[in-house]
Amino acid sequence: MSWDPHALPHAVGTTVMVTGANAGIGFFASEQLARAGAHVILGCRNPERAEAAVSAIRRRVPGASVEATPIDVSDRGSVAAAAASLLERDRLDVLMLNAGIVHPPAERATDADGNELVLSTNVIGHFQLAALTLPLLERSNGARVVSLGSLATLLSRFPLDDLQLESSYNSWTAYAQSKIAVQAFGFELDRRLRASGSAVASLVAHPGYSTSGRTPGIRGVNQPSRAKRFADNLQAAWTQGKDHGAWSAVRAAIDPDAVGGQYYGPRFVTKGEPVVTHATPTTRSPRVGERLWTLLEEYSGQAFRVGERR
Ligand SMILES: NC(=O)c1ccc[n+]([C@@H]2O[C@H](COP(=O)([O-])OP(=O)(O)OC[C@H]3O[C@@H](n4cnc5c(N)ncnc54)[C@H](OP(=O)(O)O)[C@@H]3O)[C@@H](O)[C@H]2O)c1
Repeated sequence: MSWDPHALPHAVGTTVMVTGANAGIGFFASEQLARAGAHVILGCRNPERAEAAVSAIRRRVPGASVEATPIDVSDRGSVAAAAASLLERDRLDVLMLNAGIVHPPAERATDADGNELVLSTNVIGHFQLAALTLPLLERSNGARVVSLGSLATLLSRFPLDDLQLESSYNSWTAYAQSKIAVQAFGFELDRRLRASGSAVASLVAHPGYSTSGRTPGIRGVNQPSRAKRFADNLQAAWTQGKDHGAWSAVRAAIDPDAVGGQYYGPRFVTKGEPVVTHATPTTRSPRVGERLWTLLEEYSGQAFRVGERR
């Protein structure tokens, strides 16, 4: 299957919600999907940054249909409010779970409910958002949930009995473990959707290694320092900009040939055009997925039953 990220299929008539859309991969995925004709809802926690991103897309994509909606994925109340506002809509064709802490704090931090902050942001809030918006996705013919995984899943263990890292926190483990959980959730969601006969699909995409210093400068969205540009360009051989990093998630969102359970990533592992690639056995494991699901229901306080009439 060939795919040209510069010539996307038309997405006119579809509605897409992207979390963490004011910067990085979320911004460029939103812009690319808007260029393809989708109506894009940019989920952002900061109103000024949201406005800068919406203005930038309108400037760069004439006729773009975009709006911002407030959401802080580490705040259960904020996620519930964003979901309630989404549920008032007629349709949601793509829910892109992108927001993330990519540079975790050196010391363990928690959200207002006491959950470890990286897990809360990268995983728990997205689990809650998907659970609450599933009825709307079910109403939208052939909708997709796209989760943002990572190559970091190759480099860490996944001790399910210590997901909150209460005694063993370090920033690298917190990030890698959160991304293993993201992927395991995405694949488990797809298994549950398939088992229930749902038309909704869940796919996972990773952006390779994408840095802001290799990304086009955009006022209010991406303004790396000269030093950052210089340092990032030294790694040019194996890195790409976040505009290209968005390609895998965009393909997972709108390639008509994509199917649930697929894992998309760059052709040359850390960079390149998006292709179907291999996810780790841990993140594919039904046993891991099932156990994780129970934990995420507990941490989020949100039951997530797939295939149950509501
Ligand atoms: N870049 C890579 O090479 C790479 C590799 C593997 C996976 N990924 C994944 O791709 C996704 C995006 O990464 P990125 O490189 O684009 O990161 P980024 O440039 O740091 O952007 C992260 C986005 O998430 C938002 N965000 C963070 N915490 C949030 C919260 N609590 N509520 C709502 N939004 C929040 C940020 O908003 P603020 O501006 O308000 O902070 C920002 O819009 C992440 O899930 C990351 O794990 C990236």
